[in-house]
Amino acid sequence: MKKVKLLITLIFAVLPLMMHAGDFTVGNKTFLLNGEPFVVKAAEVHYPRIPQAYWDHRIKMCKALGMNTLCIYVFWNIHEQREGQFDFSDNNDVAEFCRLAQKNGMYVIVRPGPYVCAEWEMGGLPWWLLKKKDIRLREQDPYFMERVKIFEKKVGEQLAPLTIQNGGPIIMVQVENEYGSYGEDKPYISEIRDCLRSIYGDKLTLFQCDWSSNFEKNGLDDLVWTMNFGTGANIDHEFARLKKLRPNAPLMCSEFWSGWFDKWGANHETRPAKDMVDGMDEMLQKGISFSLYMTHGGTSFGHWAGANSPGFAPDVTSYDYDAPINEYGGTTDKYFQLRKMMQKYSKTKLPAIPKMPAPFIQIAPFELTEHADMLMGADSVVMDSPLRTMEELDQGWGSIIYVTCLPAISTPSVLTLNDGHDFAQVFIDDQYIGKIDRVRNENSLQLPAVKQGQELKIYVEAMGRINFGRAIKDYKGITNSVTISTDVEGHELIWNLKRWTILTVPDDYQTAKKALAAAPAPITSKMGYYRGNFNLKKVGDTFLNMEQFGKGQVYVNGHAIGRFWSIGPQQTLYVPGCWLKKGKNEVIVLDVVGPKKPVIMGQTTPELDKLNVEKSRTHNNPGDKPDLNSAIPVSEGKLQAGNGWQMVRFNAPQKGRYLVVQALSTHDGKDVVSIAELYAVNAKGGRLSREQWTVKYADSEETKRGNNTAEKSFDLQESTYWRTEKGIALPHLVVIDLGSEQTITGIDYLPRMEEGAPGSIKDYKIFVY
Ligand code: GLA
Repeated sequence: MKKVKLLITLIFAVLPLMMHAGDFTVGNKTFLLNGEPFVVKAAEVHYPRIPQAYWDHRIKMCKALGMNTLCIYVFWNIHEQREGQFDFSDNNDVAEFCRLAQKNGMYVIVRPGPYVCAEWEMGGLPWWLLKKKDIRLREQDPYFMERVKIFEKKVGEQLAPLTIQNGGPIIMVQVENEYGSYGEDKPYISEIRDCLRSIYGDKLTLFQCDWSSNFEKNGLDDLVWTMNFGTGANIDHEFARLKKLRPNAPLMCSEFWSGWFDKWGANHETRPAKDMVDGMDEMLQKGISFSLYMTHGGTSFGHWAGANSPGFAPDVTSYDYDAPINEYGGTTDKYFQLRKMMQKYSKTKLPAIPKMPAPFIQIAPFELTEHADMLMGADSVVMDSPLRTMEELDQGWGSIIYVTCLPAISTPSVLTLNDGHDFAQVFIDDQYIGKIDRVRNENSLQLPAVKQGQELKIYVEAMGRINFGRAIKDYKGITNSVTISTDVEGHELIWNLKRWTILTVPDDYQTAKKALAAAPAPITSKMGYYRGNFNLKKVGDTFLNMEQFGKGQVYVNGHAIGRFWSIGPQQTLYVPGCWLKKGKNEVIVLDVVGPKKPVIMGQTTPELDKLNVEKSRTHNNPGDKPDLNSAIPVSEGKLQAGNGWQMVRFNAPQKGRYLVVQALSTHDGKDVVSIAELYAVNAKGGRLSREQWTVKYADSEETKRGNNTAEKSFDLQESTYWRTEKGIALPHLVVIDLGSEQTITGIDYLPRMEEGAPGSIKDYKIFVY
């Protein structure tokens, strides 16, 4: 009897591992799993954003939501941090993650880039690609393609044995990522497709994802096309074009955005649970497959958070995303509403919600008593050098310090960094002068009169590399020149500073430890490394409250926990209990600004929504408002109701630096106006580049609850928008500074994506001056 029991136990233990070879294909208006119609209900989660010890819990949380698949990105840069050195171990063990998914009865969709976006440093591309200065990223640049193929092959060694054809859980692989918002280049996409096909075989289903407005630009005939859109979108509208082009294709929303990401200096983003659940309900009713991006966002630990563009908007460490499973793996109201709806579409009772893997613990305030100057973290020094970027000095992340001797300048002058990436602090003879912050679009500051030979020191801290749009080629440090200019009796004198001593300060635990272990150095400022300890009787998850500190990085027991910045909205950092231990635990903080008091505590709930910004983010300075009383509009009329792009063309080309859109009325008769995207059309009928665009004036912007500032109308994200506040009377006005004088022949306008298009403009006037 005992033997029989043992046998049964054994069979059940190995059963999930013995999944048979199968297939996942495209049928008539549906996917087919082993020949049967199948609706993909995928949960997007990113294994590097979850500590490995918690993977199983998070997978079970997704399963308890009624999901049947996990959708994952493979971030190239976390696996190949140095050219040619691959790491698929521990938290990077993507194959193990897929096996765990399979053990839990889940399928897997893999999105191996090479580019992924994902609010991840450089959209997943490795920084060292930038060492080749003329590299063309995401194009058929020979070096780029060579490295892509090596990387994809290495990923394939891990994952190709796990395709469904080989008895594994992987049902589909994605080719590139939303290429339509980057360019139009079918030969490049074809080469990526061929590379993936050669790795995963021609039986595995390959697909592309893009927006409904641009997927035709790069859509390849032999790949499955899926659409990305967010909570609240008009679903029929999103699939209308695809249905027309491919009436028999299965429909899938490969990124249905549950919430949105947060950036430093703006409110925490949320999206209503009801809109998300209703959208998914509608898709399931219609048999549409989806991946819920994110179902669980997790944390961009260490220096892995990226930055958005246009402009420079670095992302916070938490990738909570207002997703149904919160940053630390817990349930939310969204989770319960979603689970209830998903139950309707499951023949069996959904599995129980798993218990949290660890309790939450408090840590009493403790002081970080050891301190080392930031200079002690210097790893390499070059002397008498022209300006160099971090990449030129073989540095991936961290800070870089530029030192030079000043000439005599007897009057106050202006110091300009062309360009400082990202957060520069300027000192003269160790006296703090001020900061030049790329986030705030700054590039210069005032210097006092200086004597010959005084020392100028510029600390530049790099934040995440841009992960979206053409600006992903984002060098760090000072990228071009440093000049000082002054006006002497009406003549502008300019010094281009050339001879530098440059110190690199890498961002890693080893450097921090080395700095603190070094012989005591004269402490020149509060900037630098701090170390302290706390003792635990019981281990659990906690949130380190960093409100006493300025800006920098935290390491706990050697684990890089992430960036903090006093401006918020994130004020606490999630520390998973699996990285803590009973007894003594070590915390090191690198604060590039310096703390008020070097004190931290651990709390049981996060603080993700506490802003502390010096400058308002709105653009309604009355001095910037143009006087339109006697101005003649270049176009006026009525825009249509409903979703989708609309074109307005002027009678004659117009020259000017400023584009003004005035909304006189709305289709819903209310006073709120919104614009999702806006382009200016050039003389040839093409769209003007928006990289230099800034907002000069907007009469109203909703920033109390959301982040609906006017630059959202040209941020290349169709799901975000400019919106005016409720209760402010029409007309509404936005004035865009195009950066320089341009010739414009019209505009392309996109209202919000939701059905009923709230805030969509009816009567309008356009001015150019
Ligand atoms: C796009 C990208 C994702 C992510 C989302 C926004 O859909 O494909 O990687 O960046 O936008 O969160």
